[in-house]
Amino acid sequence: MQRNILVTSALPYANGPIHLGHLVEYIQTDIWVRFQKLRGNHCIYVCADDAHGTPIMLKARELGITPEELIERMGREHREDFAAFGIGFDNYYTTHSPENRELSELIYTRLREAGHIDSRTIKQAFDPEQGMFLPDRYIKGDCPRCGAAGQYGDSCEVCGATYTPTELKNAVSVVSGATPEERESLHYFFRLQDFETMLKDWARGGHVQQEVANKLEEWFTEGLREWDISRDAPYFGFQIPGTEDKYFYVWLDAPIGYMASFRNWCDRHGEDFDAWWKADSDTELYHFIGKDIVYFHALFWPAMLHGAGFRKPTRICAHGFMTVDGAKMSKSRGTFIMARTYLNHLDPEYLRYYMAAKLGSHVHDLDLNLDDFTQRVNADLVGKLVNIASRSSSFINKRFDGRLAAELPAPALYRDFVARGEQIAEAYENREFSRVIRDIMALADQANQYFDEEQPWVLAKDARTLPRVQAVCTQTLNLFRVLMVYLKPVVPKIAAEAEAFLNVDAQDWQAVQTPLLDHTINRFKPLATRVEREAVDAMVEESRETLAPKGDAPAADSPLADHPIADPVDVDTFGQIDLRVARIEDAAVVDGADKLLQLTLDLGGEKRNVFAGLRAAYAPEDLRGRLTVVVANLKPRKMRFGVSEGMVLAAGPGGDALYILEPDSGAMPGMRIR
Ligand code: 2FM
Ligand code: ZN
Repeated sequence: MQRNILVTSALPYANGPIHLGHLVEYIQTDIWVRFQKLRGNHCIYVCADDAHGTPIMLKARELGITPEELIERMGREHREDFAAFGIGFDNYYTTHSPENRELSELIYTRLREAGHIDSRTIKQAFDPEQGMFLPDRYIKGDCPRCGAAGQYGDSCEVCGATYTPTELKNAVSVVSGATPEERESLHYFFRLQDFETMLKDWARGGHVQQEVANKLEEWFTEGLREWDISRDAPYFGFQIPGTEDKYFYVWLDAPIGYMASFRNWCDRHGEDFDAWWKADSDTELYHFIGKDIVYFHALFWPAMLHGAGFRKPTRICAHGFMTVDGAKMSKSRGTFIMARTYLNHLDPEYLRYYMAAKLGSHVHDLDLNLDDFTQRVNADLVGKLVNIASRSSSFINKRFDGRLAAELPAPALYRDFVARGEQIAEAYENREFSRVIRDIMALADQANQYFDEEQPWVLAKDARTLPRVQAVCTQTLNLFRVLMVYLKPVVPKIAAEAEAFLNVDAQDWQAVQTPLLDHTINRFKPLATRVEREAVDAMVEESRETLAPKGDAPAADSPLADHPIADPVDVDTFGQIDLRVARIEDAAVVDGADKLLQLTLDLGGEKRNVFAGLRAAYAPEDLRGRLTVVVANLKPRKMRFGVSEGMVLAAGPGGDALYILEPDSGAMPGMRIR
């Protein structure tokens, strides 16, 4: 029976380019969708740019363009990147659309009429210079718990404390630098708690993975609370019906963007939107998302849909994050790789193949190991799979004018390959793509082994065994054809080239039931070539470079990238620090401290004992007699080896090597630095 399946991937924000971290999800979804289509299901894959919210409004301002221009530009880039990676959306739209406005208003109005919307006045940080309320991430200050400077308004990255922006010390607006004020404003809230029973039933009804179900139980125990769905002007989004200057929070209209994109597709394809979205619809709805946005998709979203009389998702498929070479993607290491940068160096099919080989149905993170990537593509895709076609076709093309034999010499082996399709299909259906790849490659091994055992290159030397050569190569090319169909959702471009080479129409899953016999194939062109490690390295190198300063962002390898300039202090604060020229009279190693040197400093008559972390860059004799700069009024600090009475100024990356500052000639010990 043909299933009707609507599939979505999370909507990428329209303020930045697509990177490999994003692509895990789109590739995963696309493979699943292609598989469903190949099986003959009516499967529709929609997505859109997530176009609303403060970051997009501010980004447009920064670029001196309108938000509409920004989202138009980003939307175009996103579409191009996705197309290059073979992501076959049926519709890629934007949340800033008339359909989305209409559906957001409809859902909101239904929720309000059913009593699920509250409103009340709340206090919030306000930027008096910009005349706007500030989201938590747009306020920085000192952590109220540990005092760490430069922390965001919601949590401290140093000690992990969470708090409200008003608790931050010395808070400033990131937008203008002004000190935020607290102001009151009327907000609208969605009463999530009204849906507790329904959500518990739904969460326990097999619509989410086990890990996600466990997380949901934790959230149920903590208790469901109302959700703030409004934002004040200025805001780039949809105005809330019945208000003057209130807008839907971006996360309210983003998931509705799934519906809106589908609605737009339905209108152009004569499909009945309501049949898919009515409460008792027998169609299926799958959302592929990252594990960080489960709360929105497994709580808010089903509650909103239910409250507004629509169907709920069939399944939420959450995945983990991507790491590169075992670590978080890093701009300075060159592993924060943009889709564009990848395309400059490598074939997208390779990434699709590699990700499939690593993806399961779980929520674990996925590592792109660059050595493993090179090795697997070369060994499996090129060395095993494509190899079957290249070695068999050379005999068929040269000796038999491209003609396949009329019979298979090993029909049982062929039937076995066909039979294995069901197990592979089941793995696809359950999103166990690594299993799919393992099974296909095990079959590829079997095909190669058959070829090796038959030794057609030996048979070809004798005219009497020549017909056997044709039979053997017909067999292996048929096995190759089966495997290419199985792998088609993963590497659609290679599969299409294989179809052209085999001289067949686009194959579906059923096509493999009948072998290809007495048929002329085309000349073989390499379907995939080896990945060169140099290309991978060049991509990493370019990823370092693409982040080099265009405007005022520091280069990835600039010390500024790791240690940005600290927040401003006024001149009086600076004046409290007494910096003096000092002569290093003596320097000595410190037993038991491999980073320290003990310095005796002369500050123009006054002697100081200072421990300084200079040993990585200097031997004691390098320093004796030199002038440097010292913080003279630092309170003496008791260290394990004695009391340090000052601090020598030195520059370094923050770890090992530190280089002293040395004043120009004319400076004398004791002179003040200003
Ligand atoms: O986290 C994000 O990148 C969001 N733009 C995802 C939105 S998904 C959906 F709800 F719209
Ligand atoms: Zn802290």
